[in-house]
Amino acid sequence: MSDWRPDSWKSRPIVQVPEYPDADAVNRVYDELTSYPPLVFAGEARNLKAQLADVAEGRAFLLQGGDCAESFAEFHPNNIRDTFRVLLQMAVVMTFAASCPVVKVGRLAGQFAKPRSSNSEVQDGVELPSYRGDIINGPNFDAESRVPDPARMLKAYSQSAATLNLLRAFAQGGYANLMSVHKWNLDFVSKSGAGEKYRELADRIGEALAFMQACGIDPDSVHQLQGTDFYTSHEALLLGYEQALTRVDSTTGDWYDTSAHLLWVGDRTRQLDGAHLEFLSGIGNPIAAKVGPTTEIDGLLKLIDKLNPKNEAGRLTLITRFGADKVEEHLPRLLRAVKAEGRKVVWSCDPMHGNTQTSQSGLKTRPFDRVLKEVKQVFACHRAEGTYAGGIHLELTGQNVTECIGGAVAITEEGLSSRYHTHCDPRLNASQSIEMAFQLAEALKEERLAMAENAAA
Ligand code: PEP
Ligand code: CO
Repeated sequence: MSDWRPDSWKSRPIVQVPEYPDADAVNRVYDELTSYPPLVFAGEARNLKAQLADVAEGRAFLLQGGDCAESFAEFHPNNIRDTFRVLLQMAVVMTFAASCPVVKVGRLAGQFAKPRSSNSEVQDGVELPSYRGDIINGPNFDAESRVPDPARMLKAYSQSAATLNLLRAFAQGGYANLMSVHKWNLDFVSKSGAGEKYRELADRIGEALAFMQACGIDPDSVHQLQGTDFYTSHEALLLGYEQALTRVDSTTGDWYDTSAHLLWVGDRTRQLDGAHLEFLSGIGNPIAAKVGPTTEIDGLLKLIDKLNPKNEAGRLTLITRFGADKVEEHLPRLLRAVKAEGRKVVWSCDPMHGNTQTSQSGLKTRPFDRVLKEVKQVFACHRAEGTYAGGIHLELTGQNVTECIGGAVAITEEGLSSRYHTHCDPRLNASQSIEMAFQLAEALKEERLAMAENAAA
């Protein structure tokens, strides 16, 4: 570890890198970013790590969610508020229904860079470089948009800063006060079955709060009721950008990537000797790695060694994403091996990325029942192996979009195009997200009861 530097990744093989036409212009942007203020503080990242240690030890649950890709075009305070709000609602559902603290982490305020399965895209016989996220190039299908432009990193930084500023205000400025639990139910959500269920749950929370208030416990006396901890995360894909925001923490002397509280490595960039693992291995933040169907036991154990050599609980989250049909084939042996080796990790489930399909109209979608099936199978596998399904990783939005088919509102293939806004992968909308939270709460409650029974036996 001693030879790690914020730029030591540069000597490792790298994939998924943009080809900027003007190297001097890129370096000028890196210099500028290096002089900018950090977006998060090392102490906050350490707090998240401590909370994730609770998750690793089965005392809390991780809820991570947000856009597949944030975009410049969809940058609007209402979008930020709605995503924050739906995550709050989901967390309340799970906290109350499963009596379990929920650690809230947004895919937000920096989730711009996208790995692509192909370097180019062909439309009507015309081939252009792939869109790689707004921090790199533009989504429009014309040659000019697709040229990587380093100035986009500056815009992404300022959008992240403004987003994070609003999130901090929402989390601590009164909006997230538990007394407002009813007000978080959005208009269009409240008309859905999930919204109705949420209202009933909020009524019960309201009663509990009134009872506690009568006993002298209220937001004035207990600050946890006034607001909430909310953290940010994104895929650490664009390493030049991440390096520019990596700073020494003055209290510990350790390096932290101050672009977000938690950074993860994607399924396409987790090569053991590659640049992305090298970068993540040296920062003090809590980190995560996606684990897909191509992950072998030996490779996974080596990845854990590289990313969490001291075997600290809370340092490393493994986000499994197999697809509903592949979970049973792959997950049990990985759980068994990691448990047998005594490695402390948070196991989180991403039920989105293995369940993407193309609809007849050519739009990418994800059927709600496939997503739910993967979730249920993951809980069942953990139960069978005696490990803890500790988290969920979702692509979602608080908006009333139509991107994933199914759910109680029953979005059909034909209905997909009516409000299909994503810049990348299809997201659960607000009602589907809350419906998912109720399902998760049920699975989590059973899991926790079984754990308590095992502990008592
Ligand atoms: C993502 O989370 O948006 C993503 C690209 O996931 P994965 O790396 O698991 O494919
Ligand atoms: Co995605």
